[in-house]
Amino acid sequence: PQATHESTAVPATEPSTSRDGVVVLAEAARRRSFAVISHPDAGKSTLTEALALHAKAIREAGRADGKAGKRTVSDWMDMEQARGISITSAALEFTYRDAVINLVDTPGHADFSEDTYRVLSAVDAAVMLVDAAKGLEVQTMKLFAVCKHRGIPLITVINKWDRPGKDALELMDEIQERTGLIPTPLTWPVGIGGDFRGVLDRRTGEYTRFTRTAGGTTIAPEEHMGPDAALAREGDAWTTAVEESELLEASGADHDDETFRSGLTTPVLFGSAVQNFGVHALLDVLVDVAPSPTPRVTITGEPRPVEAPFSAFVFKMQAGMDTAHRDRLAFARICSGVFERGMVVTSARTGRPFATKYAQQVFGRERSIVDVAYPGDVIGLVNAANLRVGDTLYLDKRVEFPPLPTFAPEHFAVMRAKDVSKYKQFQRGVMQLGAEGVVQVLRSDLRGDQAPVLAAVGPMQFEVAEHRMGTEFNSPVSLDRLQYQIALRTTAEWVADLNAQLGVEVLQREDGEYLALFPDRWRVTSVRNRLPDAVLEPLVAT
Ligand code: G4P
Repeated sequence: PQATHESTAVPATEPSTSRDGVVVLAEAARRRSFAVISHPDAGKSTLTEALALHAKAIREAGRADGKAGKRTVSDWMDMEQARGISITSAALEFTYRDAVINLVDTPGHADFSEDTYRVLSAVDAAVMLVDAAKGLEVQTMKLFAVCKHRGIPLITVINKWDRPGKDALELMDEIQERTGLIPTPLTWPVGIGGDFRGVLDRRTGEYTRFTRTAGGTTIAPEEHMGPDAALAREGDAWTTAVEESELLEASGADHDDETFRSGLTTPVLFGSAVQNFGVHALLDVLVDVAPSPTPRVTITGEPRPVEAPFSAFVFKMQAGMDTAHRDRLAFARICSGVFERGMVVTSARTGRPFATKYAQQVFGRERSIVDVAYPGDVIGLVNAANLRVGDTLYLDKRVEFPPLPTFAPEHFAVMRAKDVSKYKQFQRGVMQLGAEGVVQVLRSDLRGDQAPVLAAVGPMQFEVAEHRMGTEFNSPVSLDRLQYQIALRTTAEWVADLNAQLGVEVLQREDGEYLALFPDRWRVTSVRNRLPDAVLEPLVAT
């Protein structure tokens, strides 16, 4: 009887995968992979800690070090600790209820948007974290645009409700006006910003009351009660919350799975990450409404079924995480099938085999060995020097996913080795940084191999490159910033004409694309006037 069951769920043409197929479908269905997007300082690291705390992955939020050493488990590199920002990404996997939650951590600093954008290609949903006092900020809006472009459903969390902030209804208006998404609050705060007592659950009408704990380092106890008890307890604050919730209902701001998944509405929650308020509710919403992995479209335009043989793509490369080992990790998101440690997979770009002897799960400094993983999971593959960001890995028949988006760089610098005798180390470092996507590497015959141009979305990418060239590749470098601000795509036949224009330079990127660099948009206009037929197109994200 089991066999007939399987054959209905899986095409009979692939009998060898049928038993796995059923398991894979079930495992994929309980995966929730998401990223948190926010403007720096909105509380992303704090929320990550709070989620981990709730998942009991770590017992105490990483606040024990105090202010100076604001260090969370996802902040580990020297530079990160020195500057108190997150530069690299890691993934936190934990189970909650019956679900497996994968939080793919994104770098917090505005300068690292290129990396953050790539992380968004590896998740099925995103949590937009908004500071209650600041509303939607620049970086939030940029990341929102990427999510919208990629069709990633968004859950909104209004954070820092324990502090005076904007009015809750005003915040809803702001979200709707600036993102075009209709906010559909699932919880509504009881008590105004700064006097946060708990939330009204708009689906059940019940009250969840929070209790403060010292420093928010333990899970905040919650009390659940019905409307009458809530009224007796909170008086006017409860009445106001109920009235506002009714106003929302009248304006059609109620959650709907379909409109959420198609990117028309965003469920909203209120919380205080630092006090662990509302974190439970977020986990419940992830389990109840966030999508599980769906078939990913391949380069030929066909969706690859989740239960098809193993496939994954590399969305992030990382080196030097462990200075003692100097290893190179490729973070891959599984799109279909089962991953089993030791499996030999193929890289679609090179056609070469890759043995996955050591696969790891990495979160901050903590690593654990992965034996089996399913669609939606993120695995860290070690010894991955031959892999590149965007690579597809597969088992059995060849499959390839479309390349990851690249973004138009706005900052440029020439890099030179301080010690020219270290030519080999220098070249190896440049190649590796390009492969990892730390910076884009541009070259031209005019500049030669010894002075490549680095291009970045944010200037801090240069600092990482410089730091790593010295510490990791043993080739200290100097960087000279160039005055270009705009890069436009051109073609080989226009290189000479464009190079002849004052203040303009054409370089070739590693993906083969020719980039014409301009100091400002006035120069773009004058060159367009002078060479009306020249190919000069914006570099759009794919
Ligand atoms: P980020 O990763 O998005 O950049 O933000 P992060 O978590 O580092 O939080 C930025 C600041 O906001 C931190 O304060 C943090 O404690 C605070 N914060 C985060 N969530 C909340 C919240 O719900 N309520 C309140 N009141 N504050 C919150 P800091 O002064 O930079 O550091 P620290 O003194 O807390 O260590």
